[in-house]
Amino acid sequence: MSTITVVGGTGYAGSAIVREAASRGHEVVSFSRSVPAEEARVDGVRYETGSMLDAEARLRAVTGSDVVVSSLSPRGELDGRIVEADLALAALAAEHGVRFGVVGGYSSLRLEEGGPRQADTDQLPPEFASEAKQMNEVLELLGGTDDSLDWFFVSPAQLFGAYAPGEARGEYRTGGDRAFTDAEGVSAVSGQDFALAIVDEIDTPKHRRAHFSVAY
Ligand SMILES: NC(=O)c1ccc[n+]([C@@H]2O[C@H](COP(=O)([O-])OP(=O)(O)OC[C@H]3O[C@@H](n4cnc5c(N)ncnc54)[C@H](OP(=O)(O)O)[C@@H]3O)[C@@H](O)[C@H]2O)c1
Repeated sequence: MSTITVVGGTGYAGSAIVREAASRGHEVVSFSRSVPAEEARVDGVRYETGSMLDAEARLRAVTGSDVVVSSLSPRGELDGRIVEADLALAALAAEHGVRFGVVGGYSSLRLEEGGPRQADTDQLPPEFASEAKQMNEVLELLGGTDDSLDWFFVSPAQLFGAYAPGEARGEYRTGGDRAFTDAEGVSAVSGQDFALAIVDEIDTPKHRRAHFSVAY
């Protein structure tokens, strides 16, 4: 059993991850600025509050954890400041010997072998461009850290998010930094199946200091 802290554990991806981790008997802590309503809380999860823009809250989030997963999004007060928050968490994780995972975006994937990451091109839907570029910067900076940080960065499928929750199938596939699709040419994954992949990675690490993708 591990102690897993999910910062942004009340959001779309984060809440699916805390639910899956708690169901496997891990000790799970969620950090966000507000605690969800009683009916939205997951049994067994400890809900802590604090902003990841605050150094004291970041220290509380990392201390005592085996793994910290950042499922923050570059929206609201984190728009323009996600890099600062995630990199500060990463530095603390390295210092405390804690594994650090980041839920990023589809746009950090390469659409063709040897090609650029989508976030580095002008082929981004304008409504996602800023978010995509900020999360891609987090990935690039993680790639530049030294071996004292055990990190992973996950890109979900293209069809993933609160607007496309999907259903639990109990399956998923992982890939490297190149986007892939199912037999119908669709890149999708539900929140629950994405969470399976994240907690499987925590239970049995296969991607150390690496970027990987999750889709059907
Ligand atoms: N297809 C795709 O590529 C795709 C689609 C969706 C999401 N994503 C990525 O997945 C990641 C997670 O996105 P999401 O949609 O799950 O996010 P979300 O639903 O917006 O959740 C964000 C979480 O962060 C918390 N939060 C916000 N500001 C905070 C702060 N300053 N300090 C601490 N906690 C804070 C929120 O709770 P409070 O507001 O209570 O603090 C919430 O728990 C992002 O990197 C996003 O880009 C990718």
